[in-house]
Amino acid sequence: MTIAERIQQLRDEINEHNYRYYVLSQPVISDFAYDQLMNELIRLEQEHPEYFDPLSPTQRVGSDSDNTFEQVVHAYPMLSLTNTYSKEEIKDFDQRTRKLVPGQQIEYVCELKYDGVSISLIYSNGRLERAITRGDGEKGDDVTANVKTIRSIPLILKGKDYPDYFIIRGEIFLTHDGFNKMNREREEVGEPLFANPRNAAAGTLKLLNSSEVAKRPLDCYLYYLIGENLPFETHYDNLMKSKEWGFRVPPYIKKCNSLEEIFAFIDYWDVERDNLPFDIDGVVIKVNSYRQQRIMGFTAKSPRWATSFKFKTEQALTRLISIDYQVGRTGAITPVANLQPVQLKGTTVKRASLHNADQIALLDIRLNDMVYVEKGGEIIPKVVGVAHEYRPAGSKPVEYITHCPECGSELIRNEGEAKHYCPNENGCPPQIKGKLEHFVSRKAMDIGLAEATIEQLYNHGLLKNAADFYSLTKEKLVNLERFADKSAENLIKSIEASKKVPYDRVLYALGIRFVGETVAKKLAQAFQTIDKLAGASLEELTATEEIGEKIAASIKQFFNDDKNKLLIERLRSAGVRMQYEPSVSNKISDILAGKNFVISGTFRHHSRDEIKNLIEKHGGRNQSAVSGNTHYIIAGDDMGPAKREKALKMNIPIIPEDEFLKMIQSGMFM
Ligand code: IVH
Repeated sequence: MTIAERIQQLRDEINEHNYRYYVLSQPVISDFAYDQLMNELIRLEQEHPEYFDPLSPTQRVGSDSDNTFEQVVHAYPMLSLTNTYSKEEIKDFDQRTRKLVPGQQIEYVCELKYDGVSISLIYSNGRLERAITRGDGEKGDDVTANVKTIRSIPLILKGKDYPDYFIIRGEIFLTHDGFNKMNREREEVGEPLFANPRNAAAGTLKLLNSSEVAKRPLDCYLYYLIGENLPFETHYDNLMKSKEWGFRVPPYIKKCNSLEEIFAFIDYWDVERDNLPFDIDGVVIKVNSYRQQRIMGFTAKSPRWATSFKFKTEQALTRLISIDYQVGRTGAITPVANLQPVQLKGTTVKRASLHNADQIALLDIRLNDMVYVEKGGEIIPKVVGVAHEYRPAGSKPVEYITHCPECGSELIRNEGEAKHYCPNENGCPPQIKGKLEHFVSRKAMDIGLAEATIEQLYNHGLLKNAADFYSLTKEKLVNLERFADKSAENLIKSIEASKKVPYDRVLYALGIRFVGETVAKKLAQAFQTIDKLAGASLEELTATEEIGEKIAASIKQFFNDDKNKLLIERLRSAGVRMQYEPSVSNKISDILAGKNFVISGTFRHHSRDEIKNLIEKHGGRNQSAVSGNTHYIIAGDDMGPAKREKALKMNIPIIPEDEFLKMIQSGMFM
C-alpha cells in the first residue's frame, strides 16, 4: 500500500468511526483504538504535507489563528417560521393550506423546534464547502472553520448517491450537560456565565479561534434540504435519505395525516420535552410534498407551507421572602431568592437565581413581591418577572449589598461586568476554599480530595492556602474524623504525586483569574519559568498569543501581590514544578537542539500550535518575539511586513512552512 492509500484508508476509517460515535451513538471501537488510528494519520500527514486536505478528520481540532468571518449571500434566503400558540391557530393553518391546494390529500411532517442557532451547510461533490449563519436571512457569516469542529457534521459524505450540489440546514445547539459543563469551567476562571444554552451556542459559533470552538460540546441536528436534484419529491423521504449520507437527522419526527395526529404529537412533546437532554421551544409542522410546497410558496418572511407551534414555558407564581447573596469561588456575588415553596414541573422550588444587581433593578423585584419562576436548561430555576398587581403597599426597591456577607469587605464592580465581586481573594472563606478545590481538581494538580474534606481541613486550620497541602503529614491527618491510616496515607501519596504535574497545569492550578487551561498552556510555552512570567511586562504578556489586556492585567495583579509571591516560594520549595520541561517521551529528534524559533502568520498545513510542537519535538525552542538570539523565523502566508523587515534587518533567516517541513523530514537542518 502506498502512503497516499494508507492516508486515505485511515481517513475513511476515522470518518466512519466519527459517524458511528457522533451520529449513530453506536461506537464500535475503544477510545484508545480510535486514538491510535488518529495518531497514525496525524503522523503521516505531518510527514507528507503534500497530501494535506482541509477536510481530513485531523482538521477537526480547529486552528488557533484568528478567523474573521466573511459575509456570504445565501443562495436561498434563510426565512423564519410563523408562530402559533394555540390549536385554533393550527386549525387555521390547516385550512389555509387546504385552500391553497384544494381537493388534495395533505400530509404533514411534525418535528421538534430546536432552540439553538440555525446553520446552512453547502455540500459540493460530497464535500462540505461552506457553513453560513442565518445573519439577517439574506446574508450570513461564513463560519466554516468553526463548524468543521462539530464532529456530528460530516465533512465528506458517505455513499455516492447524493446530489452534486445541495444545501442542508439545521440547528446548532448545546445539550444541558454540555452547557452546564461549559459554565462550570467559566465560573472556575471567573469568566461571565452564559445565560442559557442558546446564548452559549451562539457565542461559541462566533468565536474567532476555532480551536476554542473544538473544545466546546456543540451538537447539530439537520432538518431541511434544498437543491435542484434531490432524490425524492417529499421533505420526509429526502431527510431520511440524507441520514445515509452521514447527516444527523433527529429521530423526533412523524408524518401526520390529520389535525388529531398533529395535536397528539404536540401534546406528547409538551410533556416529554422535560426529559430531552436539550432545549426545544415548540413543534414545527411542515407540508411534506414539494409539489404542494411549491404551489403554496412563500411570503416575504416565511414559507406558507410550514408553521411552528410554540410551547408555553411553564411558570410558577410565588412570594419572594428574602434574598441571600452567595459568594462564589472567584468572589463573584450571586443573589439568590428564597421563595415560598411552590411546585414547578414536578419539583418543589424554594430558591431561584436573581442573576445580578442589574437584573433585579431591570425587573424591579422587591421583597414580598409575587414573582414568576421558570426552569430552563440551567441547574437552578430563575426569577423572570414580577406580578405587579400583587405588590404590597409601601414596598421599596431592593438595596443591593455593598459588603461581602462572608468577610465584610467592600464589594467592587468592574466596568462592563454584570457581577459584583468581593476583592478579598486570600481572606474570604468561600474564596479560599474555592481556590483549594480548584487547586486539587483533576485538570490542575489532581490531588484526590473531596470538597467536604477540604472544608474539614480548612476548619481545623490545617489548610489556609495551597502551599499547606505540602505541609500535611500522615500524623496530622489520622487524628481527624473520617481519616483512617489508609486514607491518610493515600492522600499524602496523592499530594506527593502532584509534584510531578507539569508547569502549565501548575499555572492553571494557581487560579489566576481568567487563566484557564488553554491560556495556562500558552503562558507556559511563552514564559518557560514562573520567574519569567512573574517578571513579564504588560507588553510582553499581550504579545503572547491569546493573551489580551484583561488577562495580562490579571496576571500582573496576581504576581504583584506579596501573598502570592510567598505562596509560589512555598510551593517551589515543596518541589512543585515551576518551569517548563519538554517531555522526553515525545521527542522525535535533536536536529533543532540549541535553536530558537519564532513563528509568524498562519500556516496552510498545520495550526500554529502544531508547528510549535514540531519544533519542540525536534529539540528546538519557541520564543514569543524576535530577539537577538532568535535563530529562525517560520513564516506563514500572511507574515506581517513589519516583522519581515525587522527579521531581514537582524539577518534572521525566514523559512516558509513547506520548506521547514521538508527540512525536518529529511533530518537536515542547517
Ligand atoms: S425549518 C423556512 N425545522 O426555527 C424555514 N426550523 O423560525 C425552514 N428551527 O430559523 C426552517 N427547529 O432556526 C425548521 N425542525 C425545524 C426547526 C427549525 C428549529 C428554527 C430555525 C429557523 C427558525 C424559524
